[in-house]
Amino acid sequence: MKTQIMVTTARGLENTLRGEVASLGLPVLWAGSSGVKTEGTFVDAMRLNLHCRTGHRVLFLIKSAVCMNADDLYREVFTVPWESLIPADGYVSVSSHIANETIRDNRYANLRCKDAIVDRIKEKKGKRPDAGPEQTGTVVNIYWRGEECEIYLDTSGEPLSKRGYRKMPLDAPMQETLAAGVILTAGWSGAGNFINPMCGSGTLAIEAALIALRRPPGLVRPSFGFMHTLLYDKKAWEQIRAEAIPANAELTGKIIAGDHNPAAIDAARRNAETAGVAHRIEFSVCDIAETPVPEGGGTVVVNPEYGIRLGDEAALVGTYRKIGDFFKKRCKGYEGYLFTGSPKLAGQVGLKSKRRITFMSGSLECRLYQYDLY
Ligand SMILES: C[S@@+](CC[C@H](N)C(=O)[O-])C[C@H]1O[C@@H](n2cnc3c(N)ncnc32)[C@H](O)[C@@H]1O
Repeated sequence: MKTQIMVTTARGLENTLRGEVASLGLPVLWAGSSGVKTEGTFVDAMRLNLHCRTGHRVLFLIKSAVCMNADDLYREVFTVPWESLIPADGYVSVSSHIANETIRDNRYANLRCKDAIVDRIKEKKGKRPDAGPEQTGTVVNIYWRGEECEIYLDTSGEPLSKRGYRKMPLDAPMQETLAAGVILTAGWSGAGNFINPMCGSGTLAIEAALIALRRPPGLVRPSFGFMHTLLYDKKAWEQIRAEAIPANAELTGKIIAGDHNPAAIDAARRNAETAGVAHRIEFSVCDIAETPVPEGGGTVVVNPEYGIRLGDEAALVGTYRKIGDFFKKRCKGYEGYLFTGSPKLAGQVGLKSKRRITFMSGSLECRLYQYDLY
């Protein structure tokens, strides 16, 4: 059975996500800053979870209803045959996006929704699932605007940015979905070298390797929301995974990750091992000025601190000047990219950017600056 599927994302990634959805052969019914709407089967939702590099959550529509208030919500949710969607001995959590004037606190709506689900299952099965805030079991999502209420199964559960490979986080890591979006926006998909000085926990280099090797981002993640529903077809999932494991893709260029902090390189290497791509990345403990830059050109992406979470803006002026020097002196023939939340510090690079693209990193507006280094 086909239904609407909403793949959510962060602002700035919607165009890339639109391309990803279309490349899976699914129609794009709508695209906006919050995500991309498509339609498909539950198996399509599983494919989206496995393949989407820039999607956060894959929401599978169960019911659309008119709800004026929380009592309507309870009634409408109760009519859904949850006993055939959620195991009676499972665990349910409800999340929501609500703009309805009768609801002052989303937690109240979530509670009424959860009550309707467990009451229904108790009535039909004589047993009720546990419920709570963890998103490690079945997740139900309510999207309620005015009187229009949509009830979804969140087939991702934990957001897809949690790929499962970052076992060794450092301070201020980039979200995996954002890192993939930055690389795809930069137009790098495996041709030429990919250089990532200041790599921290290695997210950009690891996502670059996954992209170049055509490895789906969900391949190493052990759990998704869909696995905790009664619609889960384990055989179909195994088949989708098997079909998605790429033949050994040849890399024409090198992927290089450097950082002056040995602990960062240690974490990046271990994360890359978990992701199954450590063999494709060359790691180097070095100051940005000493980062190995092979002949042949390619793409260089730098994500320095920007004074919000780590360090302070004034103290980072020298770092940004160093990035500028590195771009100018060492990266001729490359496309240079700087990802930062500080336009002031970006100005210290001392190069005129050819393009600026805005992304949201959590609640913070960030920009990707592109420099022609020819
Ligand atoms: C914001 S973090 C990078 C986060 C990374 N994108 C991730 O996902 O984990 C910035 C990194 O730059 C490194 N760094 C700062 N100054 C440096 C320099 N002059 N040379 C090399 N690395 C530097 C820091 O050690 C830190 O790991």
